[in-house]
Amino acid sequence: MTTLSLVLRPERPEDAPAIDRLQARAFGPGRFARTAYRLREGAAERMDLGVTASVGSFLVGSVRMGPVRAGPSAFVMLGPLAVDPSFAGRGIGGTLTRAALEAARQAGEGLVILVGDAPYYTRFRFAPVPPGRLTLPGPVDPARLLWLELQAGFCAGVSGLVEAVRA
Ligand SMILES: CC(C)(COP(=O)(O)OP(=O)(O)OC[C@H]1O[C@@H](n2cnc3c(N)ncnc32)[C@H](O)[C@@H]1OP(=O)(O)O)[C@@H](O)C(=O)NCCC(=O)NCCS
Repeated sequence: MTTLSLVLRPERPEDAPAIDRLQARAFGPGRFARTAYRLREGAAERMDLGVTASVGSFLVGSVRMGPVRAGPSAFVMLGPLAVDPSFAGRGIGGTLTRAALEAARQAGEGLVILVGDAPYYTRFRFAPVPPGRLTLPGPVDPARLLWLELQAGFCAGVSGLVEAVRA
């Protein structure tokens, strides 16, 4: 692996245009149809938990988190996670994910959920949500609905429809 002078830092409001361009490169036009995208539409963002990765002045990676709830339980949803295709496979996605999870833990969050590829996210100890526990406002392959408990016991009381907290 080539050594990169990667700079990780919390997201800032002025990063938004570069993050939009990065997501377009990483996900392509199909991103707008995804249930995770629709859930996030118009939703608030936890910018304090968002992390960017840059090489020089080029923003090469970003992970965001948004506040969601299921009934009385409030927790966060990770995503989008995007790494520029020309910088893929160098550990940037992993570094960003770990940094965002650590920020969520430090902020006292009890649970992180996401919609994504289990073979990628199990390395961060995400696991499939048990069948029937959580639903999203749109179709989701249940094998892609994953969660990671940050506070022991938090998941025990969590069930129902996941809704984004509106901005
Ligand atoms: C998925 C993504 C964030 C990974 O970023 P990255 O910086 O390349 O990831 P890392 O370098 O930390 O990890 C690379 C490893 O993950 C594996 N990997 C990457 N995407 C994967 C996937 N979808 N499923 C399973 N494994 C995957 C690679 O094969 C590699 O494995 P290795 O460590 O055994 O060689 C990036 O490829 C991306 O932005 N993809 C398009 C957008 C996307 O799918 N985002 C996540 C949606 S929830």
